Amino acid sequence: MPEIQVIKHPLIQHKLTLMRQQQTSTAKFRSLLKEISMLLAYEVTRDLPLKSEPIETPMETMNAPLLADKKMVIVAIMRAGQGILDGILELIPSARVGHIGLYRDPHTHMVIEYYFKVPEDLSDRDVVIVDPMVATGNTASAAIGRLKQANPRSLRFMCLLAAPEGIEQVQAHHPDVTLYTAAIDRELDSQGYILPGLGDAGDRLFGTR
Ligand code: URA
Repeated sequence: MPEIQVIKHPLIQHKLTLMRQQQTSTAKFRSLLKEISMLLAYEVTRDLPLKSEPIETPMETMNAPLLADKKMVIVAIMRAGQGILDGILELIPSARVGHIGLYRDPHTHMVIEYYFKVPEDLSDRDVVIVDPMVATGNTASAAIGRLKQANPRSLRFMCLLAAPEGIEQVQAHHPDVTLYTAAIDRELDSQGYILPGLGDAGDRLFGTR
């Protein structure tokens, strides 16, 4: 059932508070994002199908559960999505990876794609698009729209923080895609930043400010 899922696990909420604090260092921000991403991924992948295969333990043969299908695909929206990607890959090292680069034209305000590379033939793969912040929702909507063209078997979106405006935008354009987030914040400011938020996720992740 497509919807918005707010993952309120105490560990996630605690780590998110540490990430929000402006005195948190780049190194700490990076490791917290990785840790939260692993915890969020646990929920995002909760319904992945399993198959049963015979294996040998040191004691005997058993039919044991394994992920049923082809490797899942994580698509990071550049550049801050990389921080979430690193966390998920720690948990699911066999996942395939895609990248999508989008920017907003300052004159037309249109979302322009400057990079797109995903594994070939997504028709039998489950795709998770990742980006820490869903602010206006324009980038998220554009990324979802672009990935839909590749016809994945399933598509979900995982972020850390979302603004109500962004959620509305994504749900209006893609009501079939479930959005997972650790929190929904109050609003956007006039520059499109989330309040209270955590600032610019890319800058804080890469130490570029
Ligand atoms: N992108 C960010 O990195 N931070 C925001 O608050 C909004 C968009």
